[in-house]
Amino acid sequence: MRVIIRKTYEEISDIATKLVASRIEKKPAFVLGLATGSSPLGLYRGLIDMNKKGLISFKKVKTFNLDEYYGLKGDHPQSYRYFMNTNLFDHIDIDKANTMVPDGMAQNWEEFCRNYEQKIKEAGGIDLQVLGIGSDGHIAFNEPGSSLTSRTRLVALDAQTIEDNARFFEDKNQVPRFALSMGVGTILEAKEIILIANGKNKAKAIAQAIEGPLTSIISASALQMHPRVSYFLDEEAASELKRVNYYRFVEGAEKKLGKEIF
Ligand code: GLP
Repeated sequence: MRVIIRKTYEEISDIATKLVASRIEKKPAFVLGLATGSSPLGLYRGLIDMNKKGLISFKKVKTFNLDEYYGLKGDHPQSYRYFMNTNLFDHIDIDKANTMVPDGMAQNWEEFCRNYEQKIKEAGGIDLQVLGIGSDGHIAFNEPGSSLTSRTRLVALDAQTIEDNARFFEDKNQVPRFALSMGVGTILEAKEIILIANGKNKAKAIAQAIEGPLTSIISASALQMHPRVSYFLDEEAASELKRVNYYRFVEGAEKKLGKEIF
């Protein structure tokens, strides 16, 4: 596990952008797992910028999004499909047919979720999964208590998540109560994972995920089972971590070696 801490959100977004861009450079037919929410927005802006400057191309890239609200059409301004189009896909040279977001209107959601998993397999698996974290420690929409081996499925949203996301809707009652989400087990199969978190309201969840016990109550703690995870944190999100000196020491060692140390 790598924990990279910087003063500002801009700095961590910049480092995350460089990491993702370097992976795509090495493998143009990259399979990229994507997240919504405010945390990855700086990364998306960075990728758009590099694409516009001709430094990276998404022509051969396939993307799979983590989740989608159940009951929202892709053109609903709060749907995750709409979010991805407006914050990333519309601004880069990706073929939209290669961008997969769960279909929030899927009637037969069980079959849809099975097919989504199948599509990921057929694409060769996810090379790198981008994650944010909920204030209650969830990843994607794997609410507290989600099985650590869970797969893509219909999830009932937790009251905390509904509360956190109400700011995007006219009122709390409009927040969907269900979502389709990759499972914790699905996410753990990605070959590499990066998690971006900023702000004080993520500090507790981050400390529990990185330094707390492995528990389904904090689904991000499952990342402790994964061999290639990088956390990108601003100082506020890192403020409840106990081993910051060690993480900084490892980063210094990486610089000397010219290699990432997981
Ligand atoms: C939602 C999403 C998660 C995201 C989380 C945090 O619950 N399903 O994937 O990580 O919100 O969002 P934000 O980055 O806006 O804090």
